[in-house]
Amino acid sequence: MYTRKEKLIKQLTGLVTVTLGGTTAFAGLCIWNGNEKFYRDYVMPFTRRLDPETSHKLAVFAMKHCLIRKQPEPDTESLSTKLWNINFSNPVGLAAGFDKQAEAMQGLHRTGFGFVEIGSVTPQPQEGNKKPRVFRLEEDNAIINRYGFNSEGHEAVYDRVRLEVGKQKRAIIGVNLGKNKLSAMGDVRDYVVGVEKFGAIADYLVINISSPNTPGLRGLQQKEELENLITLVLEARNKLDTAKLPPLLVKIAPDLSDDEKKDIASVILKEKCRVDGIIVSNTTTSRPSDLKSQCKDEIGGLSGQPLKDISTRCIRDFYRLTSGQIPIIGVGGVGSGQDAYEKISAGASLVQLYTSFAFQGPPVIRRIKRELDEILRSKGYRNVTEAIGKSAQSN
Ligand SMILES: Cc1cc2nc3c(=O)[nH]c(=O)nc-3n(C[C@H](O)[C@H](O)[C@H](O)COP(=O)(O)O)c2cc1C
Ligand SMILES: *[C@@H]1O[C@H](CO)[C@@H](O)[C@H](O)[C@H]1NC(C)=O
Ligand SMILES: *[C@@H]1O[C@H](CO)[C@@H](O)[C@H](O)[C@H]1NC(C)=O
Ligand SMILES: *[C@@H]1O[C@H](CO)[C@@H](O)[C@H](O)[C@H]1NC(C)=O
Ligand SMILES: *[C@@H]1O[C@H](CO)[C@@H](O)[C@H](O)[C@H]1NC(C)=O
Repeated sequence: MYTRKEKLIKQLTGLVTVTLGGTTAFAGLCIWNGNEKFYRDYVMPFTRRLDPETSHKLAVFAMKHCLIRKQPEPDTESLSTKLWNINFSNPVGLAAGFDKQAEAMQGLHRTGFGFVEIGSVTPQPQEGNKKPRVFRLEEDNAIINRYGFNSEGHEAVYDRVRLEVGKQKRAIIGVNLGKNKLSAMGDVRDYVVGVEKFGAIADYLVINISSPNTPGLRGLQQKEELENLITLVLEARNKLDTAKLPPLLVKIAPDLSDDEKKDIASVILKEKCRVDGIIVSNTTTSRPSDLKSQCKDEIGGLSGQPLKDISTRCIRDFYRLTSGQIPIIGVGGVGSGQDAYEKISAGASLVQLYTSFAFQGPPVIRRIKRELDEILRSKGYRNVTEAIGKSAQSN
């Protein structure tokens, strides 16, 4: 008989053997001990030798089985934030797309994320695009992905989330709702079904309004479509029969023109379309001219460092356009406390990250939190809330 841990190591070795043809150097993964240098010098170089999708799978596996050490100390008081009547012990969350199938929420919580957004999850299971569909832009600290929303579907994901929220020590969980590529129900319906399915167990819900920029579908028509979508989804949310209605957030692309931003802001400020938050932003379809990596012209969404300032500008724009009335989650290229602080001072109440976690592993969370705490102190802020939007108000 094997013990649980031995079984896991066997499984893990099996996985690695399949993908690498017999490397045994992988004991390293089981010693995820949160040591930054150890990660930098041993673990991350090793995972870089894997193809990015395998490396992603491995990271989810390690998190799922809590092979990573729990953050030893509690978060400092200055990082605690209250939003939507939820107490966040820190404002640094994991962005959608890492734990798409809701397998690793507990492990992610234990390593120190303040909240975890799972998904995108589609009503029916779907495969997504064919591989390869993730590319590492090593020299640019960036990723291009065109996963195309591979999802195990509502049913499977629902069961896992329900299990997690039943635990006493649990992650704060956002559910990012997607729609099936070949939806039998129509786009709006897919989101409404998502709200009905997850409304009672999610701490917040997200729908994506990343504009496809369909030529010929601009201006007024686009605005009406957005208004219609949000109205119907909010109606579904408001009809839920739960003790606490979950906040509904919209997630936007960073590639919007000024007019599109104004249109979106004016829609979500209307009473019947008043969402509870905006996630700024999704990946960019643009390609900054200074990208160096070979795969820079792959089709897909670009994330990481090259997205950082694009998304921060977008946060500041939305903070101003909404006069700070709608809380923002800032995401895009956050890899240090300074990056997180810039997003907060541009108007974000919380931040999220994905790409820096993929490159640097779990130690990045603790480092960002430590640096953010130091920056807040040095500027004389007692907590995160006091710093929100400070750089959006001047100039
Ligand atoms: C591999 C990968 C998969 C992603 N999948 C999703 C997804 O399913 N749904 C979603 O809303 N965003 C998804 N995103 C976007 C992230 O949530 C985030 O908005 C974006 O990566 C910017 O943050 P970052 O620069 O910290 O990575 C994905 C990003 C990456 C890199
Ligand atoms: C942040 O500090 C302000 C005082 O400036 C206080 O009113 C607020 O309760 C604090 N927020 C949290 C979550 O501690
Ligand atoms: C949040 O924390 C405060 C104390 O800081 C506590 O009074 C309150 O009950 C908590 N709220 C929730 C929803 O846990
Ligand atoms: C997000 O919205 C865009 C535009 O409507 C759409 O093309 C894309 O498939 C959506 N993504 C998900 C996960 O539903
Ligand atoms: C995000 O952006 C990508 C392209 O950059 C797009 O395919 C996708 O539908 C958008 N929405 C979500 C939720 O990821």
